[in-house]
Amino acid sequence: MGKRVVRVSAPGKIILSGEHAVVYGYPAIATAIDRRLTIFKSGNQKGIVSDIPIGSGMGSSAALAVASAAYSSVLKENSLDLGKINSTAYKMEKKRHGNPSGIDNTVVTYGGFLWYRKETEGLKTFSDIKIKRKLPRLFLIDTGRPKETTKEMVSYVSGIYKAKSSTRSLLLDIERVTKSFLKFLLREENSSFRELITENEKLLERLGVVSDSTLRLVKKIERIGGAAKVSGAGGKKGASGILLVYHPERSKLLSFTKSQNLGIFSVELGKEGVKVERNS
Ligand code: PMV
Repeated sequence: MGKRVVRVSAPGKIILSGEHAVVYGYPAIATAIDRRLTIFKSGNQKGIVSDIPIGSGMGSSAALAVASAAYSSVLKENSLDLGKINSTAYKMEKKRHGNPSGIDNTVVTYGGFLWYRKETEGLKTFSDIKIKRKLPRLFLIDTGRPKETTKEMVSYVSGIYKAKSSTRSLLLDIERVTKSFLKFLLREENSSFRELITENEKLLERLGVVSDSTLRLVKKIERIGGAAKVSGAGGKKGASGILLVYHPERSKLLSFTKSQNLGIFSVELGKEGVKVERNS
């Protein structure tokens, strides 16, 4: 008999709508993507491989937390208790960024498309969204790793939340867009994907989580007929992590990114959450 091989993988994620607002009890929509982090042990060898960029809003730290919790659960109990894995990963996320909403670890654990709301610290509600339409082909452009960590961005928003009363109405506007997004996914509303992304981005810009260089890039994408939004915590000074990009004409977008020397890749949404990989 060969040595026991254990391999557990967890996906990266993107937030479609509601980042930052979700920290204050407003809803958000997130989805698991086709990039994964795998933890494995074969004999004495333990390793981690991942194709999720680090610190760019694609859930690399949540994937590591969830996969680690799942890995221990498989070794100890030979099973995946998703509820337990999710709460262990949430505790790890709390150590990392202080006041997380819990959306990252939850979508990475359960996968699919998720409607998420943190009612209070002790009650977080979430629901799988069974989407009723085919989404357009989407792309990610990595504007680079932000100078600020997620923790710093969350604490920046917390500062303006306390200091500026107008922040509350901005978060309510974000909630409105998130609900429209949900209705769009469920085919209850015929808004356009482009409008939802554009409106989303404008609100994040007003919140102050989009840097000047990222803002210029978004404007250029809009000028060639596309739409783009920061996804995740964003960044103020340098880069802002990943941009979720939509364009009706793929070739136009790709020739634009080529001319600007930008890395771009297509992304699939609604992928599986944490799982044990079968040995081949
Ligand atoms: O870690 P990121 O960049 O995916 O950001 C997480 C999303 C925030 O809403 C900014 C923070 C949170 O805990 O929900």
